[in-house]
Amino acid sequence: MQGRVLIVDDERAMCLALKGLLSKEGYQVETVTSGEEALKQIETGSFHVVITDLSMNGVGGMDVLEHARRVDPDLAVLMITAYGSEKIAVQAMKLGAVDYVPKPFDNDELRIVVRRVMETVLLRRDHRRLLEQVQGAFGFEQIVGQSPAMRRVFETIDKVADADVTVLIRGASGTGKELVANALHWRSPRRAKPLVKMNCAALSQELVESELFGHEKGAFTGAIARREGKFEAADGGTLFLDEVGDMPLETQAKLLRAIQEKEFERVGGNAPIRVDVRLLAATNQDLEAAVKAGRFREDLYYRLRVVELVIAPLAERREDIPLLIDHFLKDAAKRFGREVKPLTGEALRACLVHQWKGNVRELRSAVEQALLLAPGAEITAADLFGRPAPETQVASEPGTFREAKERIVEAFERDFLTQALRRHNGNITRAAEELGMHRQNLQQKMRELGITAE
Ligand SMILES: Nc1ncnc2c1ncn2[C@@H]1O[C@H](COP(=O)(O)OP(=O)(O)OP(=O)(O)O)[C@@H](O)[C@H]1O
Ligand SMILES: [Mg+2]
Repeated sequence: MQGRVLIVDDERAMCLALKGLLSKEGYQVETVTSGEEALKQIETGSFHVVITDLSMNGVGGMDVLEHARRVDPDLAVLMITAYGSEKIAVQAMKLGAVDYVPKPFDNDELRIVVRRVMETVLLRRDHRRLLEQVQGAFGFEQIVGQSPAMRRVFETIDKVADADVTVLIRGASGTGKELVANALHWRSPRRAKPLVKMNCAALSQELVESELFGHEKGAFTGAIARREGKFEAADGGTLFLDEVGDMPLETQAKLLRAIQEKEFERVGGNAPIRVDVRLLAATNQDLEAAVKAGRFREDLYYRLRVVELVIAPLAERREDIPLLIDHFLKDAAKRFGREVKPLTGEALRACLVHQWKGNVRELRSAVEQALLLAPGAEITAADLFGRPAPETQVASEPGTFREAKERIVEAFERDFLTQALRRHNGNITRAAEELGMHRQNLQQKMRELGITAE
């Protein structure tokens, strides 16, 4: 068995005997003959198990144990105790020793104890590493939000992750659909099997089908070898169909059949292939409109939305913005090896009123690039948006209170109306409608402020 063992005993003969015994078992063994040296070795963090004598001059076994617990909680400490010192041995166990072996010991007994301890340590390390990887990459912990809208998302994920149902994840671009798909898979009993993702947008029918179902050699020009499709690759696991609204109509029929019969053929093949796949789909499209327009099959639509999970645009859950900023700042600081910089109050306020058309993705990149590029100790609105928040710009100029207030109101009006017009592609009637203004009033304001409908 692999694993590194540190032996600590002030009797050199004992060290050598133990080293001989355990090396034969396949461990890498180091020995030290004092507690002081043991502490230094433990600091290197390169051991899995420490076997230490309890009573040594100077730094004793208990000190070694205590140090090990503090430096590396995963490190297992095994005590070798003199005959008759059970009381102290028990105390050592209370302090976190994994076991104790009274002297004189039987070689076989020691071998067995060390093997058991080593197995546990290695397993625990592997397990922890895996968990960290999984949680780091996909965990629930990575989806941030406490708005009622996000709470509903979490609740739904909780309820349906382990049920084998198809989930349709809806939301505008950058709202976190893929993140939710990850969470659904990683919280399902299929987590140990593959999560296979496929983007259905911008692919020709032929390509989509060959991607989904695979193809046989010679199925079409360029099919020089048989290829396995995503359905097969996802067998036992989850298939995530992203941008499912963009799937060509003809392919939709084949997908429907694959879902219903749990069976399909490779392109150019006729042997049915059976798979066990859980389907997740995402779209930022108005599928109902697509159904009405005949661009999306109604039967497939109902098949996919057994459960529907809707993620609100960021502008409709602004209370999540400070949390997300904090999350992305810490995450980026860690990844880029930088210190976290706080946002100025002005920058935070600017974030709270910003449109966030690109939703969380836009927020994330704004925060990341600001953290990298901000020249000062704090992140300002200019670092985030390339310009100061309008209020700050005008409020910092000298003048009477009334003038300042007028300037702020004017700046606000200009920003607000420009954004609204942009949302409606310069359509004044529709912008006025959204703002609850009369069209004429909006036009009047635009003239006053010198805004043109772009
Ligand atoms: N609630 C959230 N908490 C933390 N990070 C989030 C959250 N929502 C989105 N993100 C991050 O924002 C980015 C965009 O998310 P994701 O790719 O899941 O969005 P999407 O809805 O699939 O977008 P698109 O429609 O463009 O494919 C990712 O970096 C993701 O990690
Ligand atoms: Mg996506």
